[in-house]
Amino acid sequence: MDFRQLTEIRTTYGTPTYVYDKQVMVTQYQTLAQSIHYTPLKIYYACKANTNCVILRIFKELGCGVDCVSPGEVFLALKAGFDSSDILFTGNNLTNSEMKYAVSHDVLMTADSLSQLELYGQINPESDVCVRINPNLGAGHHKHVITGGLQSKFGIYQADVPYIRSLLHKYNLHLKGVHMHIGSGILEPGLLLKGVSSLLDVASEFPDLEFVDIGGGLGVPYEPEEAPMDVQKFGELLTDMITQWVEQHHQIALALEPGRFLVAESGILLTTVTAVKENPKYTFVGVDTGFNHFMRPALYNAYHEIVKVEPSESRGGLQERVDVTVCGDICESADIFARNRALPPLKEGDLLAILDTGAYGFSMASEYNSRPLPAEVLVDKTTVTEIRKRGTFQDLLRNQCEVDTNG
Ligand code: LLP
Repeated sequence: MDFRQLTEIRTTYGTPTYVYDKQVMVTQYQTLAQSIHYTPLKIYYACKANTNCVILRIFKELGCGVDCVSPGEVFLALKAGFDSSDILFTGNNLTNSEMKYAVSHDVLMTADSLSQLELYGQINPESDVCVRINPNLGAGHHKHVITGGLQSKFGIYQADVPYIRSLLHKYNLHLKGVHMHIGSGILEPGLLLKGVSSLLDVASEFPDLEFVDIGGGLGVPYEPEEAPMDVQKFGELLTDMITQWVEQHHQIALALEPGRFLVAESGILLTTVTAVKENPKYTFVGVDTGFNHFMRPALYNAYHEIVKVEPSESRGGLQERVDVTVCGDICESADIFARNRALPPLKEGDLLAILDTGAYGFSMASEYNSRPLPAEVLVDKTTVTEIRKRGTFQDLLRNQCEVDTNG
């Protein structure tokens, strides 16, 4: 995506707008799929990262399945055309009616606790099920996204395998798969593989198990100096580990559920500078979006590169940069995208791109401060397609009772 394309997108669709590059998604998928030399292998796109149906369809066409954590995500996956057999449902603390939704759509359910396994057994005895294991190990870019270990609410501990077994027996359930997801934004393959090793220990206890699902969690480099995860090495080590296990046990399918790895780097959030303010110490650059539209910096203190969208010939060297605080238009002091960030001199009307926002950007956005949601646009080489219209004031009235919605 170049300067010309991005300025045209601003002219046509306005800002703030999420812009995604399809080719990046395709490359990320292929890189991951080709790094693992094991069959059967199935990659399930963890769609919580970005649930736009056009993006879901891109992954469907690539041969991906989809990992869903709520009935709403299952609904969207079905709408995007996924077959129910290509959907995994790995929610937690589900209501009975949410489990029934999965059952009625023939979607395999993963029980996240013994309690949920019991309820599931009552709802749908004599069926297939998967269980989520907590391998007593967690990892991630921030404590909010660590989903393994004792502090984490997720999964069933290995010590509880006898109870899993007795519930399977009680409700005549067939354990089709075991699942884990230890956290998100992991750049060190060793940690993930340690989890896989524990998961395989559990798998060893179920001779007719059909798959192991090692979750998502593969990180991407957000900071300029950050090294990317060595995906080739990860793929090789994973392939070796699973192949060895199969030699000692039985044939099994391998499943992965990456979200961020597939879409984060495909997306930017395009925004316009609305105000520049200097106080005795800092320069604030205000933009026309905020932490309602992109939460990661406020919620996880996450770093995202911000670039001025300008013709490449006008890009200056480091000496022309000034340290600024880039902030949004929401009435809260947490509404900061970057502090002490060296950027070229900026003025009102300049166009900025917040990078690597394809994952957990739009999907975590809200209408807080009654600001409608941004538009979404997909770029496929030279073709630009709007894939979600900008929100409207009418959206703000949606489902509100006792108001004249025509006004
Ligand atoms: N599978 C399950 C069961 C999950 O809960 C998740 C993410 C994934 C797969 C995909 O994880 P990924 O490959 O994207 O790391 N909002 C946070 C990330 C939270 C992820 C929650 N679960 C962020 O912006 O960093």
